[in-house]
Amino acid sequence: MSFTFHNLRSGVAASSSDEQFAHAVLEGLSTQPKRLPSWLIFDDQGSEIFTEITQLPGYHPAHCEIEIFQAHQQTITDLLAGSEFRVIELGAGDGGKTQVLLEPWIQRQLTFEYVPIDISEGAIKTLVANLESQFSHGTMSVTGLAADYFDGLRGMSQQESVRNIVLFLGSTIGNMELAAAKDFVQKIRESLNVGDYVMIGFDLMKSPKVLYAAYNDATGVFERFNLHLLDVLNRKLGANFKKEHYVQQGQYNPRTHAVESMIYSTREQVVTIQALAKEVSFGAWEAMQTEHSYKYTLAEIESLATQAGCRVVKHLFDANKNYVDSVWEVVR
Ligand SMILES: C[S@@+](CC[C@H](N)C(=O)[O-])C[C@H]1O[C@@H](n2cnc3c(N)ncnc32)[C@H](O)[C@@H]1O
Repeated sequence: MSFTFHNLRSGVAASSSDEQFAHAVLEGLSTQPKRLPSWLIFDDQGSEIFTEITQLPGYHPAHCEIEIFQAHQQTITDLLAGSEFRVIELGAGDGGKTQVLLEPWIQRQLTFEYVPIDISEGAIKTLVANLESQFSHGTMSVTGLAADYFDGLRGMSQQESVRNIVLFLGSTIGNMELAAAKDFVQKIRESLNVGDYVMIGFDLMKSPKVLYAAYNDATGVFERFNLHLLDVLNRKLGANFKKEHYVQQGQYNPRTHAVESMIYSTREQVVTIQALAKEVSFGAWEAMQTEHSYKYTLAEIESLATQAGCRVVKHLFDANKNYVDSVWEVVR
């Protein structure tokens, strides 16, 4: 079985993603209050700090998703076993949770391909190397793609005889506004065949107290994650943010139905961003939003599925119904 890695983030793709990055920063710093989209944080180091978040005892989305995969492994296997299949994971990160699904398939000698896609080249290289060191004699082939979600999906050949399942885990969909999530699932659907599956992890609406505890750890990993964005801006755009002049806190906002992470400027300061030829002023204790994590209801999830031309096959819950991995089939 083969284990390969491809980097699709060079040439035109790289310069268009740099432009997209600069545009998003310019737009986010020009609004009042300042507000930057969550995806900007994810370079190699951002992806590594996110892996640390998934290991925090209070970060329920990661623990719930592992519990769901352990409890419902057979349900997912029943959908796929019987013919050759391909598992495409968007934003795979370290792929740690996904391994809970993959291992029993390898043990049962099912033939399948795993295609993890992530914008972080480091994350995908490490993931492919880890899988190769553990499973080189098994029935799984691995094709790791360092790519934007849809560049990765577009770059794959489609064979009608191979059933696809696209995974989008870790409640990453919550980082999008509801309207953007609708466009996103529609685009996934457009790259699939009728009969293919999609499984998306959604964090469900719950007590704001639980949400507060999940996004404000005592060890400061969330703060490090959000402040890492300033390092990314310094590196990619030649900015001179000083991380020590900001603090972070996350809070559920009932108006947007999302946990919003803010970084607060601890003083009046002016930051220069060379690549944008821009100076940005911060007032003392001015907030800038750096993360958005939407909390879903089941009705919203079902409406997302049907609007994208999919049928909900099953909602897979953890025991406390804090989280759901929703499995959809493409129907038209
Ligand atoms: C919230 S993390 C989830 C990681 C993993 N799926 C999990 O459940 O723990 C989001 C992942 O998506 C990746 N990512 C963010 N934007 C991306 C994009 N435009 N294209 C591909 N991957 C992206 C990040 O590098 C990161 O690994």
